[in-house]
Amino acid sequence: MSMPTGPVVVLVGPPGSGKSTVGRVLAERLGLPFRDTDADIEQTAGKPIPEIFVDEGEPHFRQLERDAVRAATTGHAGVLALGGGAVMAEETRALLAPLPVVFLEVALGDAVKRVGLDAPRPLLAVNPRARWRELMEARRPLYLEVATAVVDTQDRTPEQVADAVLEAL
Ligand code: S3P
Repeated sequence: MSMPTGPVVVLVGPPGSGKSTVGRVLAERLGLPFRDTDADIEQTAGKPIPEIFVDEGEPHFRQLERDAVRAATTGHAGVLALGGGAVMAEETRALLAPLPVVFLEVALGDAVKRVGLDAPRPLLAVNPRARWRELMEARRPLYLEVATAVVDTQDRTPEQVADAVLEAL
């Protein structure tokens, strides 16, 4: 069997949908590496995401994010999680078109439970619940556009979500 050359699955969804947690479980099950574009960006920039937003601004962060997605979708044979806003970039959506992409659906209440929306996410710094809803409303059509499958995470553990993702692939 030849080794895969691109991601075997890409996880998309809003903050609190469990992309990183589920991604790690999936990678472990598949015996493949896990990669997270947020972590890649922090490594490239040499600082945490909130500091990138403060020092360089969101447009610069989005540029780093497009670069990180391009690198990861071409050079990473494993499980890939994208930051919640990555799908806003047309270039990113085009890169995802040929790949197996799973949208992790989550309701606000569950998202809050998972990340406590006071985690350091610059876009959710003020009125996190209302902002989360706004972001989700604007992005849901984009998550659906890139997704080859949608998995509902409601009342499921990361292990159960991982099972559902594997079934959906
Ligand atoms: C963002 C989500 C974050 C991170 C950045 C911006 C967004 O990733 O990329 O704070 O625009 O929704 P998570 O979805 O992993 O929280």
